[in-house]
Amino acid sequence: MPDFSLDRLRRRPDVEAPNLFAVDASDRLILDEASVAIGAAPPGTVVVINDHYGALAIGASAGLGATGVRVFQDALVGEAALAANARGVTTEVQSLPLGRELLSGATVVLLQVPRSLAELDEIVGEIARFADPSVVVYAGGRIKHLSLTMNAVLTRHFGRLDVSLARQKSRVLIAREPLTTESGYPLREFNDELGLWVCAHGAVFAGAKLDLGTRLLLSVLDQAMPDAATAIDLGSGTGILAASLARSRPGISVIATDQSAAAVASSLATISANSLGERVTVVRDDCLKSQPDASADLILLNPPFHVGATVHTGLADRMFRDAARVLRPGGELWTVYNSHLAYRPTLESVIGSTREVVRNNKFTVTSSRRRVPVAEADSRRVDARQEG
Ligand SMILES: C[S@@+](CC[C@H](N)C(=O)[O-])C[C@H]1O[C@@H](n2cnc3c(N)ncnc32)[C@H](O)[C@@H]1O
Repeated sequence: MPDFSLDRLRRRPDVEAPNLFAVDASDRLILDEASVAIGAAPPGTVVVINDHYGALAIGASAGLGATGVRVFQDALVGEAALAANARGVTTEVQSLPLGRELLSGATVVLLQVPRSLAELDEIVGEIARFADPSVVVYAGGRIKHLSLTMNAVLTRHFGRLDVSLARQKSRVLIAREPLTTESGYPLREFNDELGLWVCAHGAVFAGAKLDLGTRLLLSVLDQAMPDAATAIDLGSGTGILAASLARSRPGISVIATDQSAAAVASSLATISANSLGERVTVVRDDCLKSQPDASADLILLNPPFHVGATVHTGLADRMFRDAARVLRPGGELWTVYNSHLAYRPTLESVIGSTREVVRNNKFTVTSSRRRVPVAEADSRRVDARQEG
């Protein structure tokens, strides 16, 4: 077994900063609580869900000797960080979507408890449905993020629940005896205000509801580059913005993109439920990595301001920089954000001239026009002089 320490794990390509960590005390407690069960598990029957950056999967394989570890992470950046952290350390981890292939025959499941109850409900329901009847689930987290309601969610899907002693402000909930329940996901609700079906998997932002910031951006959507031929809904969540834009502008072609597996599945379901699949393409991507330079007329963005449980603006800055690269000169980024975040100076410097379109007591919507790069502006002036 290679020399291995969890301390070497990193978060990249996710935001790295002194107050953001790749491993926490709950990862270590989950691994310690599950170590005997992992040691006794038949090959290929350990599954890891919602590992942040690979601590659980790499800890179980390189640290505790598990083979054929199957992993699901909602966040694409988490998946990329796991792959980078595993390089040269273990080849025993494989990423799969949440569902039967991930979970069939699983006897030990290590789970970082998600913050949303709906996400926990969907994940735990899938484990109960597809894992081996002998499965033991080690669901851990920081105590400040755990609640008694989470115990209730777990006991909806498992007959027995034990709770570990607390250590370093972390705890592990240990569930056994899976019960069979029907999956209620994705949720599917008709939003009367929008006249749209909205579909939501458990982990998606705002569930099947309309977020108040999104609503403010939708109230001015008609003004956003009415002649745009191509648009991107960056961080699409349920796909509400992409669906609204495609439905109101029959000529436009839209890309809805998000790094969250649940968001991508929800966007796909929303687009399909509203019969907009011909004009909206849904992709899973970290910001706009797979989009070519200067390829979009319009980008819509309601950026996250949390990185995991920590408020951090690094992610929004990264989205702005990607938007600047992918917008064609003269293209526009329409952003909605919590007014106290004061993104405007960054938008001015990264994208170009920025104006406030509308503001209410909580949110601001801005429109930023991608400046024409200096070299291109010069050559346009030369062309104009030659033509004149
Ligand atoms: C505030 S929500 C907005 C969702 C949706 N556009 C709406 O208005 O309801 C922000 C979205 O950004 C996504 N996101 C976070 N990090 C991302 C990244 N690195 N690349 C792409 N999307 C990301 C989240 O998964 C989330 O769906």
